[in-house]
Amino acid sequence: MKCKRCRKAAAAVDLPSHHSAFCPECFFVFFRRQVEEGIRKFRLFSPDDRVLVCVSGGKDSLVLWDILMELGYRTEGLHIDLGIEGYSARSREKTLAYASSRGKEPIVVDLHAEGVPIPEAAKRARKEECSVCGTVKRYFFNRVAAERGFTVVATGHNLDDEAARLLGNLLHWDADHLSRQHPLLPEAAEGLVRKVKPLWRVSEMETAAYGFLKGIDYVTEECPMSEDATSLIYKEALTLIEEEMPGTRRRFYQGFLDPKNRDVPGNPVADACREDASKDGKDIGEGGTPRKCNSCGAPTYAETCSFCRLKERVTKPQGRS
Ligand code: AMP
Ligand code: FES
Ligand code: ZN
Repeated sequence: MKCKRCRKAAAAVDLPSHHSAFCPECFFVFFRRQVEEGIRKFRLFSPDDRVLVCVSGGKDSLVLWDILMELGYRTEGLHIDLGIEGYSARSREKTLAYASSRGKEPIVVDLHAEGVPIPEAAKRARKEECSVCGTVKRYFFNRVAAERGFTVVATGHNLDDEAARLLGNLLHWDADHLSRQHPLLPEAAEGLVRKVKPLWRVSEMETAAYGFLKGIDYVTEECPMSEDATSLIYKEALTLIEEEMPGTRRRFYQGFLDPKNRDVPGNPVADACREDASKDGKDIGEGGTPRKCNSCGAPTYAETCSFCRLKERVTKPQGRS
C-alpha cells in the first residue's frame, strides 16, 4: 500500500481510525501536527514557558520529550526513581541514555534517598502501591517544578490512557475525578504549577510507532506493581470496541472535552466539570482553595499534604495498631 499523503513511498503505519496510512516521513508530519493541535487547542503552553517533562523511561514520556524538543520548546526532564527492584534501575538507565543522546541531563529524584521507596512505603502505610506511587509522583512533579522555576509540568498520558480513565470515571459516576479530567489543569495559589498532557490526541499505537521509527530506546516492561491495575481492563474493553469500530476511542474522549456536550441541562458530568478544575488529585474532597502544608509548605487543600501524611505513616515506628 502507498502512503496516502505523498502517494510515493510505501506506507509503514496503518491508521484505520484516521482512514489513513503513512510512510515514515509523512507519519512524522502527521504526529507532529496532532501534538501541535493538542497544545494549541487548549493553549497548554507557549514557547516562553519552561516545561518540566516527567520522564519514566517508558515510550510515552520519552516520545513526549523528543517531540517537544523537536518543536522547539524549552524543556528539562524529571525522572523519579521509584525504588522498585530491577525495574527502577532499568527505567532510570533508559531515561539517562536517551537524555544524554540529546545532550541533556535529567533531574533525578531517588525515592530511596527520600525515605519513601514505593514497595516499602506502601507496605508500611498499608496502602496499594499504585496509590502511594501516584501521591509521591504528583508531589515531586509539583515540588521540583515550583522550586526550580518551571511554569508547566508535562506528562506523557496518551489518548488510550485518557479514554480508559474516562471510561472508569463514568462507570463509577465519579463526578469529582471527572471534573478534574482534562489535558490542562491550570496553575493555582500557593505554588500549584500548571499540569498538561500534550499527547492527549495521539493513541498508544501512534506513540509506539513514533518511538520505534525514531529509534528511541525505552523500557518495554510494565511496572511489576501494576499488573492487575483496573485501568488495563478499561483499556482492553476500549481496544475491543476500537477494533470493531475504528475511531470510537477518539470520538469518546474528544466528545467529552467538547464544550457543547457538557452544556446539556442536568448533565451531572457537566455540572461537575464547571467546578474549579485545579485541584489536581491532591487531598481530593477536602475542598476550599489551596493553602500551604503546615509541614512542608507544598500546596494542599488540607492542613497537611497527602505526601507528608504518607511520610508520617511510613516513618513512624511500627507497632500494634
Ligand atoms: P503512568 O502513571 O505510569 O501511566 O505514567 C503517566 C505519566 O507520568 C508518564 O507518561 C510520565 O510522564 C509520568 N511518569 C510516570 N512515572 C514516572 C517516573 N518514575 N518519573 C517521572 N515521570 C513519570
Ligand atoms: Fe507506580 Fe508502578 S509505576 S506502582
Ligand atoms: Zn507536606
